[in-house]
Amino acid sequence: VRVASIADLRGILSQHRAAGKTISFVPTMGALHDGHRSCIEIAGKHGDILLVSIYVNPAQFGPGEDYEKYPRNLEADVELCRRLSCDIVFTPEDREMYPVPQNAWVTVDGLTQPLCGRNRPGHFRGVTTVVAKLFNIVNPDVAVFGQKDAQQALVIREMVRRLDFPVRLILSPTIREADGLAVSSRNKYLSGAERGKAAAVHQSLQAGRKLLETGERDAVAVTRCVTDHLLANGIDHIEYAELLAADDLSQLNQVRGKVILAVAIKLGKTRLIDNIVLTVEDAGPVEEAMLFS
Ligand code: PAF
Repeated sequence: VRVASIADLRGILSQHRAAGKTISFVPTMGALHDGHRSCIEIAGKHGDILLVSIYVNPAQFGPGEDYEKYPRNLEADVELCRRLSCDIVFTPEDREMYPVPQNAWVTVDGLTQPLCGRNRPGHFRGVTTVVAKLFNIVNPDVAVFGQKDAQQALVIREMVRRLDFPVRLILSPTIREADGLAVSSRNKYLSGAERGKAAAVHQSLQAGRKLLETGERDAVAVTRCVTDHLLANGIDHIEYAELLAADDLSQLNQVRGKVILAVAIKLGKTRLIDNIVLTVEDAGPVEEAMLFS
């Protein structure tokens, strides 16, 4: 069933709760792809009632970002949700989510500062505010997010912990195209030539990983290797390439433990992000890992 009003959704969910059902939830901005499919499939295994929201949240786009041209194909998305056995698709309009200019915000300090926080001021405040609103509307038992948006996942985990939201967070691994490009709604913006170059994003992360496998433990040397790989493959607009502690995004000199190697680049007007999470010991293999479980 497709529902656009908060009151109707609450009514339906309270009936399910009264019947003892648990709710699993995947918040999305639509333009659904295999990354969302993975989140939805995971959510389906962790609750009785599977709910997907589709809402392009204006509050998380900065001035000059791609809010207007963000891909929207609501009918196809709702149909995909139906095929994936979703029980409820929540498709609110702006006037439902933000009936008056928003003057109450949820912010997470610290974790929102590095990486994307530097280039997208206000972005994470928009994300945490809409996710808090959605959590208050849905009251899910479980919510699933993609590891591709690793900083977002950490920020939401912090919000859930510090504000005591009674929800269990689960991550879906990053889903990739055959050449390694992480699937993303924004890949649609890439021209043919840009799409060709985009494969270098994931390759650059793998180059960094290989350097760690040779025993390199200097974070700067690893991120330099990533940057060099991007530049050598014609990607010269690099917003960041960083290797940080995976738990709290703190800076590392010597690489050890669970770490995240993350990049943000621009190809033409399209901004792409990607990351790999690695467990690095003093010696031995460098394994890919989940950010949290
Ligand atoms: O990851 C997204 O698609 C969005 O940031 C989210 C979590 C649905 C909030 O609008």
